[in-house]
Amino acid sequence: MSRWKAPHTTLLAAALVAASIPLTAPLPARAATPAGPAALASGPANPGFETGDLTGWTVTEGTAFGPGAVSTATTYWGGPFHHRGGHHLWGYAAAGDDATGTLASSTFAAPTRLSFLVSGGWDPERLQVALVRDADGARLLTQTGIDDEAYLRVVWDTTPWRGQAVHLEVVDRKTGGWGHINLDDVRVGDAAARDDNGLTFRTLGQANQPTATRDHTADPLRPQFHYTPYQGWINDPNGLIQWRGRHQLFSQHYPGAPKWGPMHWAHADSPDAVHWRELPVALTPPVPAGPADNSGIFSGSAVDDDGTLTVAYTRFTDTAAHPGATPETVEIATSTDGTTFTSGTEVISQPPPGSAAGFRDPKLFRDPVDGRWKMAVGSGDAGRGKVHLYASDDLRTWTYSGVLAEGDGTTGTMWECPDLFPLDGKWVLLYSTNEGGQSLQRYAVGTYDGSRFTAERHGILDGGGDIYAAQSYRDDAGRRLMTAWMSDWNAKEPTRIDGWAGAQALHRELFLTADGRLGQRPVAAVDTLASGPSTTVEDKTVQGSRRIGRGDAVRLRTVLDLTRTTADTVTLRLKASAAEATVLRYEKATGTLTLDTTNAGYGTPATYTTHAVPAADGTLALDVLVDRSSVEVFTGDGAALTARAYPRYRESDAVEFTTGSGRLRLKSATLTPLGSSVLTD
Ligand code: FRU
Repeated sequence: MSRWKAPHTTLLAAALVAASIPLTAPLPARAATPAGPAALASGPANPGFETGDLTGWTVTEGTAFGPGAVSTATTYWGGPFHHRGGHHLWGYAAAGDDATGTLASSTFAAPTRLSFLVSGGWDPERLQVALVRDADGARLLTQTGIDDEAYLRVVWDTTPWRGQAVHLEVVDRKTGGWGHINLDDVRVGDAAARDDNGLTFRTLGQANQPTATRDHTADPLRPQFHYTPYQGWINDPNGLIQWRGRHQLFSQHYPGAPKWGPMHWAHADSPDAVHWRELPVALTPPVPAGPADNSGIFSGSAVDDDGTLTVAYTRFTDTAAHPGATPETVEIATSTDGTTFTSGTEVISQPPPGSAAGFRDPKLFRDPVDGRWKMAVGSGDAGRGKVHLYASDDLRTWTYSGVLAEGDGTTGTMWECPDLFPLDGKWVLLYSTNEGGQSLQRYAVGTYDGSRFTAERHGILDGGGDIYAAQSYRDDAGRRLMTAWMSDWNAKEPTRIDGWAGAQALHRELFLTADGRLGQRPVAAVDTLASGPSTTVEDKTVQGSRRIGRGDAVRLRTVLDLTRTTADTVTLRLKASAAEATVLRYEKATGTLTLDTTNAGYGTPATYTTHAVPAADGTLALDVLVDRSSVEVFTGDGAALTARAYPRYRESDAVEFTTGSGRLRLKSATLTPLGSSVLTD
């Protein structure tokens, strides 16, 4: 049916089918090594499969790990494997997804630390790399994959079992999509923590996550000042509103896995649109009809109906599990306390004609043109995205007013998450599309007469790859605030290694620029995140490179004096070490600003561009917010570039300017450490 179903729904369905398969019993314990710990090897034999076969490893069950599983493949459909050396254990290579089996390493003495590269399917019960004690078969630590083939390094503290006879076991008991797991480059002792280049691996993996507390600081990839789910998955922001003084943020959420699944609405609120307090899940889908039933509560919006918090959302019914049902209808639910909601009431039971591509994501607003409630709903038909409009006097009975706006066929076939609002004397329409495999957050600026929107100009809201499903609201101060899912449907989600995925962008204030574009800047309260003194550099000439400072949750505000800059290209390296960096480049001649994650670490390698216009005095202001796995760049003229980036190494936290030939004149650069946005009460 719709675009998003293809990649993630099928995979999730497969995972849920697999969930009904009983687990086989663990392997029997091995006999203790008679010679005692002194005689034990210090690590597994053939730890990176560099012999080109399974020498030192034993197939203990099934066919998943025949000799054909040792692979020399360097790339898969999504890019490079990022394995080490010439070979790796690709769980798919021998017998595909449907084969199951187990593979055991040779016995070795548990070191103080052990690390390895893992990838393949996510399923903590059926797909594992496990550390097993020989004496009693105890499974001391386990790690699953990430639903991607690109390897990530997991580091384990194995001190509690130091010296004991252990082995690794690779377990594949999953069939269907992502029914395989991959392993490479097992390292022990100092080499487990430090790479051959001398840099220290970040400590990733589910064994390193705090379970008793919602401690966001322990996870090196978890943004500190962005909203993230403590566990599970989030995508679109929903139901944005300032209600009874507090900013409300709901999110599309699946608590059961760091992957898309039956959608819930997670809920958080905030006094300032920057610091977030987690609240109970607000909307919960019906009990699934079976393990493959992905029915859930899709995206929607909120209004204040005379003191009652009222949300409208898409009730998605998975027709594979419920044949004959209408897949997408609109429901309303209400809350008088802001946290508990009534169950939904259906208010639109059928999409209007011309909705073949979908009918979802209702956005409610009070229309200043005629004073009535309006609802914009995303749709598409015959290769063109569109938005339907409805009108109501009571939010319950809705009349179809026709097509609010429609694309010309060049801007996506289905417009998701539409949002129409007045701004600075014009009207703005936000919508999200998927075009040729690329997710885009589009906007149009134009006029609106109470039933039709007429676009005068079109644009991309953020030139980066990780802004999608944006939603806005007018806050009590009259500002038009917006946030968006800081990822997209095509993104790699390395944080699955730690049990969660998805983040919401910083709240941004929208405005129209002098030349009529939709501009944005971080909300002013981001200033209150400062957690220590700033470092400031003023009136400096940079030739070669200049480090401003370090930090994995920092803000850099800088003004470049382009009139006194002779370098053609100015480069700002973020999350930088000798081995990797997220690179921001400004090309003076063209005004092109590029954010480059091709050598940023794990995650999606890409280059993203926007255009930055210097101010009349020849200066270019940049406001750069670096969080543990994100970078948001705002230019002085309201353009933005947002991307996720996941450094491999602890040392990758420098913020430094470099120039090729020529000089950069830095008017100012202020680096401020930022603290956590989590409110605990
Ligand atoms: C946008 C979207 C929406 C849908 C939701 C499902 O990212 O595909 O159209 O309501 O996500 O989670």
